Amino acid sequence: MAAAFAGKVVLITGASSGIGAATAVHLARLGASLSLTGRNLDNLNRVGQQCEQTGSLKPLLLKGDVTNESDTKQIVESTVAHFGRLDVLVNNAGILEMGTIETTSLEQYDRVFNTNVRSIYQLTQLAVPHLVKSQGNIVNVSSVNGIRSFPGVLAYNMSKSAVDQFTRCVALELAPKKVRVNSVNPGVTLTELQKRGGLDEESYKKVNKYYRRNIHITCSGLSRYGYSVPGASKGDTCPWTSW
Ligand SMILES: NC(=O)c1ccc[n+]([C@@H]2O[C@H](COP(=O)([O-])OP(=O)(O)OC[C@H]3O[C@@H](n4cnc5c(N)ncnc54)[C@H](OP(=O)(O)O)[C@@H]3O)[C@@H](O)[C@H]2O)c1
Repeated sequence: MAAAFAGKVVLITGASSGIGAATAVHLARLGASLSLTGRNLDNLNRVGQQCEQTGSLKPLLLKGDVTNESDTKQIVESTVAHFGRLDVLVNNAGILEMGTIETTSLEQYDRVFNTNVRSIYQLTQLAVPHLVKSQGNIVNVSSVNGIRSFPGVLAYNMSKSAVDQFTRCVALELAPKKVRVNSVNPGVTLTELQKRGGLDEESYKKVNKYYRRNIHITCSGLSRYGYSVPGASKGDTCPWTSW
């Protein structure tokens, strides 16, 4: 298990923070050769150092904005130029923004979809020829919000549903070429995502409390799902409605 990823080249977007950073450190421990990307170079360097200390291999660190087409092209090209191959693409970079159908804007819709969907489309397109050669893998970091419906984060919910559909379609397209495509759909995870999305400290605490009690269950009624969660009652309201 220790060197399960030895010789495997893994490209992780959004590796400068949160889930992407933790994934990088974990895969470093498993011996992966890592190409890590993000916009914040200080954070990226910090994660790079952690990976090196954990896994002993020096990761390739690439600064870039995934909504910028030439940055994205550069990320894939530099990775393949440096390592000579690509085995796994982890499409993780993403943003959350708050807004209901009454409070959203088209600018917000564009920002969220450009980051969470369009960039994945482009990165995957560019990576596929290399993944076909290595018979590799794609992992798209979606969200529970792609599967279940929550009020107050409309564009984000829709973007993650699009990621899930993209994943299923591309999985069917690439299966004959022995490239596996999957998504993961995490529930609330303590990272910078919600605060960056505009959630104030008080609401952030409420969300965390709510999720600790009602993991993966929407506010539309606990019993409907047949769950019995300690501390949760049927009338609990979802704090997201007050965002
Ligand atoms: N946290 C949760 O509760 C949760 C739950 C389900 C799914 N997810 C998903 O998990 C993924 C990672 O989120 P996280 O929670 O780890 O959030 P995070 O701590 O805010 O990290 C987000 C990462 O994405 C990068 N990023 C965002 N926009 C970018 C852009 N335009 N170009 C390049 N990089 C960009 C950030 O880079 P810089 O910081 O360098 O700008 C950062 O590394 C997202 O797709 C998110 O939707 C999170």
